[in-house]
Amino acid sequence: MSAQRGEFGSRLGFVLAAAGSAVGLGNIWKFPYEVGNGGGAAFVVLYLFFCFLLCFPVMVAEISIGRKTNRNPAGAFEALGYKKWSIVGKLGIFCGVLILSYYNVVAGWAFGYFFEMVSGNFAIAENFGAYVSDVTKVGLYGLIFMSVTAFIVSGGVQQGIEKAAKILMPSLLTIIFFLVIYAMTLPNAMEGLKFYLVPDFSKMNLQVIYGALGQAFFSLSLGMGALITYGSYVSKKENIVQSAALITLTDVGIAVVAGLMIFPFVFYQGLGPQQGPGLVFVALPGVFETLGPVLGVVIGSLFFMLLSFAALTSTVSLLEVPVSYLVDEKNMARKKAVWLTAGVIFLVGIPSLLANGASDFFSQFTGFLGSDTPTDFMTLVGYIANDSFLPLGGLLISVFAAYIWKKENLSKEISIGYEGYEGSFVQTFINFVISYLAPVVLGIVALLTILNRFLGITLI
Ligand code: PHE
Repeated sequence: MSAQRGEFGSRLGFVLAAAGSAVGLGNIWKFPYEVGNGGGAAFVVLYLFFCFLLCFPVMVAEISIGRKTNRNPAGAFEALGYKKWSIVGKLGIFCGVLILSYYNVVAGWAFGYFFEMVSGNFAIAENFGAYVSDVTKVGLYGLIFMSVTAFIVSGGVQQGIEKAAKILMPSLLTIIFFLVIYAMTLPNAMEGLKFYLVPDFSKMNLQVIYGALGQAFFSLSLGMGALITYGSYVSKKENIVQSAALITLTDVGIAVVAGLMIFPFVFYQGLGPQQGPGLVFVALPGVFETLGPVLGVVIGSLFFMLLSFAALTSTVSLLEVPVSYLVDEKNMARKKAVWLTAGVIFLVGIPSLLANGASDFFSQFTGFLGSDTPTDFMTLVGYIANDSFLPLGGLLISVFAAYIWKKENLSKEISIGYEGYEGSFVQTFINFVISYLAPVVLGIVALLTILNRFLGITLI
């Protein structure tokens, strides 16, 4: 079966594809506005804590489960002999469908911004509200984006996306670095940096903890089986721990650097960081404008082109998860599975497309369900999928790896490709996190959230 399913061409290929999955809108679009809403540096500190101390070991477990079984997330649990646990994989696949449904909408915004920048329309920032509620326009961009994603996935991930990622990711980083340096020269840059880097722990509450946890999982593509799926294409020569460390460092590094760019820009323009999902789209064009008509257009269009590519390597991984399930478990031909899934997910995304002003119903969705502070449909899907399902998935995957499949088996799998793992400090750390730290922390956050949301009891 594995020959037919395919395998990553090289060690670098896997790390790049997985880092490509991790690095995306989550780093450059979502992270800054989550920091903005979460009160600044306190959110950043929590996010870093969750990424390195909690998520990294869960990532190692996910990749190991995938590589051991060569199966999709649902099939993987079954292949290890625990059929009931395949529900965790199915939950993950469902969560991936939800995430892609709205992620694709935002990817369409970024893609459309590329054309706006090419034509020098920097004023788009002030008209962001009108732009995202123009359903025909952004709907078309979304449709194109989903089609390109499907096209790449139907051809197999390796050839197209691996190659593209090698060139595009470093280019994106170069532009961001240039923009960080430029940002530092602007008036009020320090105010932005202060907000971003000096923590005010009095701003820390359950909402912030919960958001930072969801963001850590989301930005690392964790908790829904994307890395079980990619892990299933990894060769036995691979050192899983080292790869996971590289993926985590790249992803966190890019998010942190994106913040260094955004916050000086936001404060320079006197915008205020709590703009929500529009933050990057509202803050950047005005800055590109100050670069002058030629450089502004060049940097602006390059930036949004590269952001679209970063999003593309993520949408590819999101689509690959349900596709691998249909191919492995339902024996569906790959092409058919790809176009069918992409079509369905596009349709599932239509309410999210309408949730940014086009339809009152979806834009004020929870208002119609009786909430005083209405949340739009797209944000709601994000709360459910990113902030609840992903950490829940992470909790279940940790418990599974530690107590059901068992640590010894996990260690055995990790040791293949990592001589000297058994008995090392790294092993002690990973086992400690998946057995105790992750279940306890994720369990407590879940409990506090249930108490708060459903019973109205606020402990922190
Ligand atoms: N990690 C991606 C990002 O930061 C989003 C993603 C989540 C991709 C879950 C795959 C799985 O943009």
